[in-house]
Amino acid sequence: MSPGAGRDRDGSASAPAIEALDVSRTYQLDGVSVPALRGVSLTIAAGDYVALIGPSGSGKSTLMHLLGGLDQPTGGRLVVGGRAVGDLSAPELARLRNETIGFVFQAFHLLPRTSAVDNVALPLVYRGVGARQRRERAAAMLARVGLGHRLDHRPNQLSGGEQQRVAIARALVTDPAVLLADEPTGNLDSTTGAAVLELLERLNVESGVALVMVTHDAEVAARARRRITLRDGVVVADTGLADTGSGGIGSGGIGSGGIGSGGIGSGEAGVGS
Ligand SMILES: Nc1ncnc2c1ncn2[C@@H]1O[C@H](COP(=O)(O)OP(=O)(O)OP(=O)(O)O)[C@@H](O)[C@H]1O
Ligand SMILES: [Mg+2]
Repeated sequence: MSPGAGRDRDGSASAPAIEALDVSRTYQLDGVSVPALRGVSLTIAAGDYVALIGPSGSGKSTLMHLLGGLDQPTGGRLVVGGRAVGDLSAPELARLRNETIGFVFQAFHLLPRTSAVDNVALPLVYRGVGARQRRERAAAMLARVGLGHRLDHRPNQLSGGEQQRVAIARALVTDPAVLLADEPTGNLDSTTGAAVLELLERLNVESGVALVMVTHDAEVAARARRRITLRDGVVVADTGLADTGSGGIGSGGIGSGGIGSGGIGSGEAGVGS
């Protein structure tokens, strides 16, 4: 059951998960300005499924870092979970990230000497969840990604696909609104990559987490509800967006279960605020 884009997981009309308004990011490197993003505006609706594509160096990873609050824009306005990230202190931003965003990277980034279950439980430590409940929730999440029998394996005792599934479980154990995945199948062979992709799509449908995925694979991108193309730091195409044509909110997208038409008002309110 999908809650559909533009809806909260309880089915009520919802604000966008993330909004970027004319966002830019210029890196300073040895006194030289490197404009990686040059005015990007987009809205990620609750429950959406977005592929972010574009050539190497076009700014995809930079944008993902901004959308997830790992980095601050040098210009423009970014609203994550209804909160303007520019107004937040570092601890407030860290907390917003922990509560709202899950990350999956190409290179897994698991703690090497730590078991699968403890890797997955880590985000719950920062949230102050007690040890027993952490283990229970982490074990349940690992079972959801098909690794209930691998709880105590360390990363080097797992295959690449299993490691990425641990990383996905870690990203989702806090029940975030958005999962940001930067080339999540990039280090995997095609069969394993396809399985990881299917898992991400299933979790998007089942739990209503919005999925934003960077990919270089046209076939993978074609499966998304929406494709955003970056080139030289700007959005040059945004297809599959806004079935309603209003407010940047996708309404009855694929698999939305026929409840996706109410996001219009919240989209307009969000964009204008
Ligand atoms: N920390 C940094 N300092 C300076 N320049 C940077 C930094 N990070 C990225 N860049 C530059 O910003 C531009 C965008 O980089 P980004 O990593 O976002 O590209 P990408 O689209 O993710 O590429 P790829 O597909 O190769 O991963 C590139 O020109 C890159 O060289
Ligand atoms: Mg990248």
